[in-house]
Amino acid sequence: MRQGYNGRAMRESTHSRPLVKIAPSILTADFGRITEQVQEAAAAGVEYLHLDVMDGHFVPVITFGPALVAAVRKAVDITLDIHLMIERPEEQIAAFREAGGDIINIHYEATHHLHRCVGEIRRLGAKAGVSLNPATPASAVDEVLGDIDQVMVMAVNPGWGGQSFIEASLGKVEQLRSEIDRRGLSVEIEVDGGVNLSTGPRCALAGADVLVAGSFVYNDKASVAENVKALRSALAVVKP
Ligand code: DX5
Ligand code: ZN
Repeated sequence: MRQGYNGRAMRESTHSRPLVKIAPSILTADFGRITEQVQEAAAAGVEYLHLDVMDGHFVPVITFGPALVAAVRKAVDITLDIHLMIERPEEQIAAFREAGGDIINIHYEATHHLHRCVGEIRRLGAKAGVSLNPATPASAVDEVLGDIDQVMVMAVNPGWGGQSFIEASLGKVEQLRSEIDRRGLSVEIEVDGGVNLSTGPRCALAGADVLVAGSFVYNDKASVAENVKALRSALAVVKP
């Protein structure tokens, strides 16, 4: 055993199955050949594909809606993790589920009715996730932690790919890890934003289960396969 982030014990992985999941975000992918781009990620063995839906209100940018999700659904057979950066997500949950979303993440800050929303996501047969903006404390999900499958820590302010990782996110991941473990829950902790070879392993050590990586995976420096392989190697340590 050796010491990891904030003194957490850390050991080398002896499992062939990766313990930290990788979820490429297609935000910086080439949308002109999106089918190939998502198939490259699937072939590289990633666990989830992360689809960033932005409405121009909750965040300034507009990306895409259910039609693109449905196209990706046809192209690959892996878990689709839908990140709804939209206001009033309750009005769109069914459309994204219908389009093929397996996990539907809504923002704590985007609805007055978080409990009802996560219940609706599960009622439609999807896994329910709640995302927290950088200024939102971990305790915001206390009352719904038993009703969700995933909590997502935003390590950047949502809106764009390629931003720098906010260091305080690691403390939030640790707090959530200890609360989830204390209550014996199986809620996954996902970290989104600024994940790379340096921040990714630190997130894993802090207790993350899933890492979203956008510009690290989809860039013009190397192939999707090479980038996923590099991140996987850097994550070849596991949390205790
Ligand atoms: C930001 C999005 C992220 C983003 C991650 O609003 O939610 O999923 O695409 O991109 P990188 O990994 O480049 O920070
Ligand atoms: Zn995202």
